Formats: sequence, structure tokens, C-alpha cells
Amino acid sequence: HAIIARMTEDCLDMEALKKAGEILAGGGLVAFPTETVYGLGGNALDPEASRRIYAAKGRPSDNPLIVHIADWDSLTPIVSRIPEKAKKLADAYWPGPLTMIFEKSELVPYETTGGLETVAVRLPANKVAVEMIRQAGGYVAAPSANTSGRPSPTLASHVEEDLGDRIDMIIDGGQVNIGLESTIVDFTEEIPVILRPGFLNKEMLEEVLGEVRIDPGIMAENTHIRPKAPGMRYKHYAPKADLAIVEGAPAAVFSKIRELVREGIAKEQRVGVICTEESRSEYPEGIVRCIGSRADDRTIARHLYEILRDFDADGVDAIYSESFETPRMGQAIMNRLIKAAGHEVIRAGSEDI
Ligand code: TXA
Ligand code: MG
Repeated sequence: HAIIARMTEDCLDMEALKKAGEILAGGGLVAFPTETVYGLGGNALDPEASRRIYAAKGRPSDNPLIVHIADWDSLTPIVSRIPEKAKKLADAYWPGPLTMIFEKSELVPYETTGGLETVAVRLPANKVAVEMIRQAGGYVAAPSANTSGRPSPTLASHVEEDLGDRIDMIIDGGQVNIGLESTIVDFTEEIPVILRPGFLNKEMLEEVLGEVRIDPGIMAENTHIRPKAPGMRYKHYAPKADLAIVEGAPAAVFSKIRELVREGIAKEQRVGVICTEESRSEYPEGIVRCIGSRADDRTIARHLYEILRDFDADGVDAIYSESFETPRMGQAIMNRLIKAAGHEVIRAGSEDI
């Protein structure tokens, strides 16, 4: 079973971080906290370590990994060119929840990039992550630390549940702050393209870069529009229960969800509801979980994956969720929720009131 080391960003356990560095340098695997989600780390420059990461997650090996670095100067050796716009974006948002795609240098093995000529790079802000990367020699490949197809881990206990007996060490840094994976921006085309929405939304990127496009594949239900990020093509984040999103005017949504819960219970099903602080009192029946507050949509992002895992643990048959098209993080939240629901969206219309 994995060694578990607990620490906080304010009080780093340097001995444990040195140990993690040694494990990584020796080709082993260490899960660690970042501000987005927990990562499953291996030495990014060691093809064998990347193979181990794929095996531990049960992930297809054509789905490339993100290389995590601890400082800006570490970028140069692993890319062949740094576009001016990427430098500007890094100045604004690194360290932070931003991953950028570059043309790779020869230093990065194809095992890490899933056979691609490009490499995804991220400089995280979490101090535990940064110090661990330093101790490991500067380059840590890390996908989210979940079994392929399960929600990404936002707590160390999620990592333990999925990977505890397959990896060498887990660094427990408590609950992550953001809860959704980093925003991925591709700089290999003239106009930068968002391949995965995250905490940094389109408007925040445009403030720095001017025109930014969104990869049309990321929200498409239609499978012939292929997302450019290979990982966005796979079925993801799927809870065991059937999840459906109910959309419409608030009053119509509340009454539609109440009706669906009642129908499920009549069929002797266990039915879950995902609501917000503001709507909790609308749901007298079912297993009701409050995801956060619409007044601060970062609380919704932070709890989404945890709630999906908790419903799995409850063994519910069906889950109905409100929709969270909020202004700040709505794009990222709905991207994950719609995938988790397999595009099952119910329109609550006036006829239901
Ligand atoms: O917040 C995050 O980004 C977390 C933490 C641990 O840093 N990591 C993460 O990694 O979410 P992962 O492997 O679960 O997702 C990486 C995504 C995948 O969709 C993958 O296909 C895409 O990045 N990706 C990686 N390299 C790429 C490349 N060269 N071109 C296009 N997409 C790439
Ligand atoms: Mg992932």
C-alpha cells in the first residue's frame, strides 16, 4: 500500500517531500495535491515512468500527460519554441490553473506526449506540488490521480480509494481549492485555442491575449466533431447512476425534479438530487446534496466531483441535477457536468408547472 504523508502549504514536511523526490527520480509514482485536482506524478523524462502512470490509471496510452514544472526557466529545455502570446499568458496566470500546449523538444519522450509532437506544460501554484517537483528534478508528468473514467480526486481519500494499492506514495494536502482541472490553451495555431475550459475562462484569457477561440469539439454531443485534446474525447467523470440535468426557469426546474424524484421513489429507486444552498428547501424527498452556492460559483466547482463520488458510494439509481450556467465558472462546470450526464438534458417547460 502507498505511504501516506500529510502536510499543508503553510507547513511543508520537507523530509516527506525529499522522500517523494527520491521515489519519482527512481521511476516510482507519487500522487500529490495541486490547486485544481490531485495529480498522479511520475518522472516526465522517463518513458518507463509514463508507462507506469498509464497502467496505474488504466488509461489509454494515446492520451497525453501534462508535464508539471516548478519555475519558468524549466520551460525552455522541454519546448522547441515559446510563442510571444504564451509568454504573456504565463506572466499573467503562472503559477496557476493554466496548461499550455507547445511544440516539444527531444528531451520529452513520446510515451509522455502520447505520441504527439506537442507537449502540455503547467506550473502549478500549490506549494506542496512545487516543492515536490523541485525535489524530483524539475519535470513531473501528472494526469489527474483517478482511475480512468472516474471523477477527478479533490481529496486524498479519493486517490487512496482508486489507486492506494497501485502507487508508491500519496501526499495528502487536504481538500483542493478549485476542484476542476486546469484550463488548457493550445499555442500551436495562430489564434490560441481553449481545449478544455477551467477556472480561467475565455474572458480572462482574452483580457491578456485578444482573440481566443474555443475548440468546437469540447461541448459537442456529435462524435464526428473531435475535440483536439485526446482526453476530451473519452467518456469521463461518469457516476454509476444515471445522471440527468434539468434545465429551465427555476420554478419549473424545482417542480420537474420533485416530480422525477417522486416517480423514482414510486418505482422503489434510490434517487439523488444535486441542488444549491439557495434551492435546498425546494426538495423534500430523495437523497439531496447541496453542491454550493450560486452566489459564489467557485463553491459549486469545488464540490462537483466529490458529490458524484458520494452518490456512487450511496448506490443511488438515478441523479437529477440543476443546471449551473453561472457567469464566472459556468462554462467549466457545465462542460464536466454534461459529460458526466452523457448529454442527458431534460427541459423543464411551462407545461410542467
Ligand atoms: O489540472 C490539471 O490539469 C490536472 C492536475 C493534476 O494538473 N491534470 C489533468 O491531467 O487534468 P489529465 O491527464 O487528467 O488531463 C490532461 C488533458 C487531457 O485531456 C489530454 O488529452 C490533454 O490534457 N493533453 C495533454 N497533452 C496534450 C497535447 N499535447 N495536445 C492536446 N491535448 C493534450
Ligand atoms: Mg483526468
